Amino acid sequence: MARERIGVLFVCLGNICRSPMAEGIFRRLVEERGLADRFDIDSAGTGSWHVGEQADPRTREVLSTGGCPEVGRARLVRADDAERFEWILVMDRSNARNVKQVLPASAHDRVRLVLEPTTGGEVPDPYYGGEEGFRLVFRLLDESLGIWLDRMLDAS
Ligand code: 4NP
Repeated sequence: MARERIGVLFVCLGNICRSPMAEGIFRRLVEERGLADRFDIDSAGTGSWHVGEQADPRTREVLSTGGCPEVGRARLVRADDAERFEWILVMDRSNARNVKQVLPASAHDRVRLVLEPTTGGEVPDPYYGGEEGFRLVFRLLDESLGIWLDRMLDAS
């Protein structure tokens, strides 16, 4: 049976820098195309340090400057995310290993690097660096997520 909405989960380590950035950008992309009703979008982390916190102020600043909506508070990935999300896009290989320890094996082939359509590499963790790192993350994600959106629509 077809799912009602296309579920997309972005995952990083802390869920305060990269995956909320991806979530905000992707929300903007689907809103721009009038597709918000067709998607169920969220982000989560594999580490618990920042659970319940808002996204890092530098992520929020870059999202706001980029015309993207606000995103929610940090949460952990859960096993039942596999039921809700058909696309599980991670920022780096370490995230992929960590998320596979939480999700059932049946969901492991849905775990993909978010930069797969562009560089094929990893999104650098900007947490301990300066604001330029956050702007770089924004550019990398913005470019790749437009391509992901087309792929998801083609596959739906
Ligand atoms: P994120 O960045 O995984 O992109 O949210 C990090 C944020 C916090 C920490 C690590 C990475 N931390 O160790 O607290």
